Amino acid sequence: MDLFAKLKRLSDAFGVAGHEDEVREVIRELAAPYVDSCEVDPLGNLICSRGDGPVVMLDAHMDEVGFLVRWVEKDGFLRISPVGGWDERLLLGHRVVIRARDGRKVNCIIGATPPHILSQEERKRTVPLDELFVDVGAKSHEEVEGMGITIGSPLTIHYPCELLRQGYATGKAFDDRAGCLVALEALRLTAGERLPYRLVVNFAVGEELGLRGAKAAAYRIAPQVALALEGTVGADVPGIPEAKQPTRIGKGPAITVADRSIVVRPRMVEFLEDIARAEGIPFQYKLPAYGGTDAGAIHLERGGTLAGVVSVPCRYIHSPVSLLSLSDLEATVRLVVGFLRRAVELLG
Ligand code: CO
Repeated sequence: MDLFAKLKRLSDAFGVAGHEDEVREVIRELAAPYVDSCEVDPLGNLICSRGDGPVVMLDAHMDEVGFLVRWVEKDGFLRISPVGGWDERLLLGHRVVIRARDGRKVNCIIGATPPHILSQEERKRTVPLDELFVDVGAKSHEEVEGMGITIGSPLTIHYPCELLRQGYATGKAFDDRAGCLVALEALRLTAGERLPYRLVVNFAVGEELGLRGAKAAAYRIAPQVALALEGTVGADVPGIPEAKQPTRIGKGPAITVADRSIVVRPRMVEFLEDIARAEGIPFQYKLPAYGGTDAGAIHLERGGTLAGVVSVPCRYIHSPVSLLSLSDLEATVRLVVGFLRRAVELLG
């Protein structure tokens, strides 16, 4: 399977925070040939390990932003509550997928009132999330229940992953399936090497709800060194000055110096820069201090852990559909492979 095919499998899988089962099984299948063990902890984190000795941890979160059914109206329309950070201006009229009780996917849409029956004033107004409704094509509350949809059923906006043109991909959930893919590729490409430490990769749940899975996993794993892998805010688009673009597409992996959850120790930043320079990998800095990552939770567990973050720039994350450059994805994999080959230098 080529890189895009793997990205598509990961991106298209369902994994709204708290409901990561489907994406976890995809990742388990892709990781299993390259690790000694894959365990699922009580929160649902997938923890894959290989080798012996002091522990080096990679982390990428499986969960994606979405919604939960908040209420089912008598006439069969659904009201929804957000899971993770959405911009409510962007939600009207999109196609969504609900996961029913039996795991079946139900296609539906976020309804929008046609402009014909809106006043000038109403057309200018953003419809608050509270007033949105989802149309599943049902006539009654009972019919919705019969479909296996109930209060708490998870859903998200769903656009299938596609090649936009050679080298660019669009799809949902690149935050953080891009990071999951980097971790999986790094596992595959180092599988034949004997690394002088225990490598543990945590595929985390609940990042979008406040780094929940990574916190519990980091306590369990007790790493000496950790690297979080993300799909982060790419903002090289019209109207955004360069100084406010956290990262740019096509400029290689982004090394975090600081975000809202961590100030990365210079030792780690310089270590990652050295690897990139030595291997001829283009890189950029993620400008401080936007967003937070699992590294924020991991570095504070137990007695503290030396932690860093490397990200694939992705435009339009936390919106209905994102875009990334496959060359950035490849370069990020190379940087993380270089990190694993030299991580022993950070131990002790
Ligand atoms: Co993320």
